[in-house]
Amino acid sequence: LRDLIVKLGGSVITNKAVKESPRIDVIRSLVGILKDRFRVLIHGGGSFGHYVAYEVGLNRRPVSFEDALKVMKSMDRLSNIVLRSLEEFNAKILLIRPREFVINKELRLYKVFEDALVEYKKRGANILTHGDVVVDIGKYNFSVCSGDVLALIFARIFRPKAVIFLSDVDGIYTKDPKRDPSAKLIEDISGSELVGAFEGSSSTDVTGGMKLKVETIKRISEITDVYVLNGFKLDNLKRFLSGDDFVGTRIRRG
Ligand code: ADP
Ligand code: IPE
Repeated sequence: LRDLIVKLGGSVITNKAVKESPRIDVIRSLVGILKDRFRVLIHGGGSFGHYVAYEVGLNRRPVSFEDALKVMKSMDRLSNIVLRSLEEFNAKILLIRPREFVINKELRLYKVFEDALVEYKKRGANILTHGDVVVDIGKYNFSVCSGDVLALIFARIFRPKAVIFLSDVDGIYTKDPKRDPSAKLIEDISGSELVGAFEGSSSTDVTGGMKLKVETIKRISEITDVYVLNGFKLDNLKRFLSGDDFVGTRIRRG
């Protein structure tokens, strides 16, 4: 598989328990495996963006420019690490930050200034981007544009063969696998069935976060196939990329 959109979850590339702790070896290994496979690489915030976002109250109350900038700078530190790793592998890639082309309203995506992205695509550019703080024209001043939403934005523009989410668990389960041992991995499902697979479950553990993620994945699956795989299981990822048997969740288009 090539020409993919890949999202590296913050839970994979950072240690969420410690502020601003990147997993450099994991980043390097993933970049090495993925470098010729993607058109768009997206990364999350993990213990960078999310940590500082929590400190300043982002997405919970209106934040000042100064506080928004703190979160942006934190994301810049992480994206610079990812970029450096890509450059070590001589990847030709352009870093573009959502704060420059996305506007939210009341915490939701409101407007994407996509003309430049479309032109980059036509010219064969590979793009690195990441979950970010963007202007919010509602009451919050600024809010988060997540890597998951970026995967949807870029799927619309790039029309990739597939969108891959790399997470710290094996895929999407019927319930949170970290809390509920009876959770079962969903191996193959259509986008339209996906949301029901959760609402039907008796679990109350599914966070708003996971629900939003699943809804975003459902919308991406209207465009292309989506896969959720474990970002720590590198041999499994390689098998997937070369078309062999793998463990993970496949969300079929449609
Ligand atoms: P990332 O940092 O990879 O974007 P998130 O933290 O947003 O990841 O989501 C992954 C986490 O969601 C997993 O660590 C898992 O514990 C939790 N989770 C909750 N419910 C589910 C579910 N039904 N299936 C898979 N993971 C779930
Ligand atoms: C978060 O991006 C970005 C900020 C908090 C600024 P994501 O929401 O995509 O991050 P992860 O993958 O869940 O850590």
